[in-house]
Parts: sequence; C-alpha cells; structure tokens
Amino acid sequence: MTTVKIFPDINAIAGELAELLFGLASTPGKQPIHIALSGGNTPKLIFNYLAETYGTKLANKRFHFWWGDERCVPPADDECNYKWTYELWLKPIGIAFENIHRIEGERMPEEEAIRYSQQISHWLPVSNSIPRFDLNLLGLGDDGHTASIFPTNMELLHSENWCEVASHPITGQKRVTLTGRVINNSSAIVFVATGSGKAQMIKNVAIDSKSEFPASHIHPSSGEAIWLIDNDAAGLI
Ligand code: 6PG
Repeated sequence: MTTVKIFPDINAIAGELAELLFGLASTPGKQPIHIALSGGNTPKLIFNYLAETYGTKLANKRFHFWWGDERCVPPADDECNYKWTYELWLKPIGIAFENIHRIEGERMPEEEAIRYSQQISHWLPVSNSIPRFDLNLLGLGDDGHTASIFPTNMELLHSENWCEVASHPITGQKRVTLTGRVINNSSAIVFVATGSGKAQMIKNVAIDSKSEFPASHIHPSSGEAIWLIDNDAAGLI
C-alpha cells in the first residue's frame, strides 16, 4: 500500500518524520530500533530542523542509525552522506558512536559492501530470512533511483546480498547501497521528496508505478510505503 502525505514545506515534513520517530521510540520493550537514513540534499534540511526543533528529545538510546547508501568517499568529504547527517543532527543531539553504523566509504567498495552486510546481519532482527530495519528513510532521484539503485542497475532490486556496489550512471561515482530485498523487508518505508523538479517522477513512481524506475519497485513486503512530499512535488497528482 502507498500513502502520499502532502505538506506546505520541508519543515512540516520534518515534523511528520519526528512524529514517526517518537512513535517508534514509544514502542514497548527495550530492543534497539534500527533506522536507515537516506543521503542527498533533501535530508540535510530535515536533519537540521530536527536538531534545532527537537534537540535531544529525539536522542533515544534505542535508536541505531544506518545508511541506505553511501558514496565511496572519505567521511570528511562533502559528498559523504554520513558527514552531513552526523554534523547536522547526530552530533548536536549527542548520539553515541556505538549507535551510529556508517558505511565506511573510504574502504574498497566491494570489501565495504561485505563488511556492512555482516554488520547488518549481526545487529538486525530477521524476518522472511532477511534483516529487518524498523524504518527506512529514502529519497527519490530525478531518474527514479532510490538509495543507490539506479535505472542502470535494476538487478540490485533482486540481489541475494544485503548490500551491493553501484555506480552513479553519470559520474561513475562508486556507491555502497542496500539492496531492494532488504529495503522492502523494512517495517516502514518513508520516501521524502520536495520541489517541482520531482513532481513528474513522483507521479511516475508513487502513482503510476512505472516499472522502468527503481523506486517503483520499493514496496514493503508487509506494511506501507509512505511518501512525505511538499505542495510543489505534489504538483501533478
Ligand atoms: C544519495 C541518496 C539518493 C538521494 C536521491 C535524492 O546518496 O544521493 O541516497 O538516493 O536520496 O538522489 O537526492 P536529493 O535529496 O538531493 O534530491
């Protein structure tokens, strides 16, 4: 099932995401809550708002932070998804290092894909014989990619591995990405997209589910995919 929620701006989207996180934190028990975060530019605004608006209220010790994909660059590189997440949100609210599981983009991509898969297997519970994230936050690329599953490597949707190495179709930049089976096994999948530039692709993927776009194939095996978009991104639906 796909649910599309439309908001006036990115801050309102961030507020909705905060409510989802508070909801996760209030689930019974003390077991870790595993959250995979997306990269790119959209989340930077969200993370900054979460840090400024909620501060340590979201610094729940049960939260373990992972990434849906990472560029194969050092952690200090401006291209690094982890860097921005840490600097804008996790560091300001004091998330402990042991709760942060970054993809080590400075390693050999193939080696890191294996190492990260092993970390996922070590930490995450399993359902359907696949590791299960509690929440998977995803973005949508202009070409319909999500995480680093691009139209040029759709086979990663069905890989038997938890992580794979991908290449950006234009820049050739190497990435390590979660694969489609792991993403779809998440208990909750939340896409965030803003701006009129995403409107056509959102219609293609969230409404028309056009199979040529990787994000069209992202549907939790149980549960729902929630799209949090702004008015501009909702322009064609
Ligand atoms: C990445 C992301 C990628 C991103 C989309 C949207 O590492 O770039 O994980 O999947 O979410 O490309 O990026 P923007 O938010 O910058 O549009």
